[in-house]
Amino acid sequence: MKITFIGHGYVGLVTASVFADLGNTVWVIGHTKEKIENLKKGVIPIYEPGLEGIVKRNIKAKRILFTLDHKEAIPESSAVFIAVGTPPRENGEADLSSIFEVTKKLAPYLSGYTVVATKSTVPVGTNKKIKEIINQFKSQKADFDVASVPEFLREGQAISDTQSPDRVIIGTDSKKAEDLLIELHEPIGGKHILTTIETAEMIKYASNAFLATKISFANSIASLSEITGADGVGVLEAVGIDKRIGSSFLSPGAGFGGSCLPKDIKALLGIAKTSGYDFGLLKEVNKVNDQAIKGIVNKSKRLLDGNLENKTIAVLGLSFKPDTDDMRDAPSIVIINSLVKAGAKIKAYDPVAMKNAEKILKRITFSKDCYQAVEGADLLILLTEWNEFRQLDLVKIKKLMKKPNIVDGRNIYDPKKVKDLGFAYIGVGR
Ligand code: UGA
Repeated sequence: MKITFIGHGYVGLVTASVFADLGNTVWVIGHTKEKIENLKKGVIPIYEPGLEGIVKRNIKAKRILFTLDHKEAIPESSAVFIAVGTPPRENGEADLSSIFEVTKKLAPYLSGYTVVATKSTVPVGTNKKIKEIINQFKSQKADFDVASVPEFLREGQAISDTQSPDRVIIGTDSKKAEDLLIELHEPIGGKHILTTIETAEMIKYASNAFLATKISFANSIASLSEITGADGVGVLEAVGIDKRIGSSFLSPGAGFGGSCLPKDIKALLGIAKTSGYDFGLLKEVNKVNDQAIKGIVNKSKRLLDGNLENKTIAVLGLSFKPDTDDMRDAPSIVIINSLVKAGAKIKAYDPVAMKNAEKILKRITFSKDCYQAVEGADLLILLTEWNEFRQLDLVKIKKLMKKPNIVDGRNIYDPKKVKDLGFAYIGVGR
């Protein structure tokens, strides 16, 4: 099948590559000349494990093609996927301006029958507006249907999530569009959920909101365990074994971040507000997350006798989670800014996110590796559980540090082992 993706971020580029890899001819439309020229050479604008290899392989096979020109791609495509960002506005609502802008641009080039499907996370009612815009700007002869096909991939595991999803949501009111999308998704596993556009739009928000709720629940149990003396991590592991609950997304830590959970919760709260529904539970999820992030600063103070002034703190991990260079809404930003405000000097290291972090965190020093970061430090804070941090030479680290203090924001170290080596250690919920 010939298809087009508009947008080449984590969702657009990954999904386009996976469909190209399955034998389809996939056009990717961007709007920045430099990025498109780079993509044509296989230089990708984001860090995602395995993505560059797939892109290069499919460029060679001429199955993935990059362009700035709608005319090259849209007319011959059976389906056009909109995969542009929907960042939060100041009031939390999703900013849909890019969605409507690209819709206006693509509409005049539709030719024959095309399914215009939205992959971006959009509030209920957006696809209806997309339909109205297309009707306004398309040529008279062009025939089309809209569909909501939300994406559930996680950064860092985006390729495998796209290749074998748990479910594929196809929301449309047209049988013809449904059949075409089923055919396109046939080689991909997962249960097909055939539903209305509105339900599909809401499924995406509900899924992310539930994941965030699980994490905040875990962080609440962790906080309560710290106070009562229970082992919060052990509690949550045991709780997660119950099949009705499930063990994933129950790890307490430095809070959730990224370009999706925080944004989608804000947007869903906005949808609830406009609908006159008080979504108190979700407000609380956000509050608990703020506390989890601030909790790392409080723990740091505790280890440094309440005074961060002129203390040197090594921060390991900056991205919002491992295996990504994405710094959007990373808990590290809030934590570092608050440590700096309290007078601490930060030496940070992250395996891939430092280039992006440099644009955001201006008042800190970046180190070439973990060992350089901890040199002379009064405290080490672990914020992202990159694999390379799991088996550090802690004996060497202790020698390099001024004071052997660790705040383990992702619970990756064995408290007993670390304490036996002479460190003062605080994790989350243990
Ligand atoms: C999330 C969803 O998991 C995807 O299904 C969805 O497609 C995506 O948003 C999206 O809307 O595009 P992502 O933001 O890439 O994916 O990352 P997650 O793996 O969900 O992690 C989000 C945050 O939660 C991270 O900061 C992570 O450290 C934190 N987290 C996760 C915890 O604190 N504890 C956990 O147990 C799990």
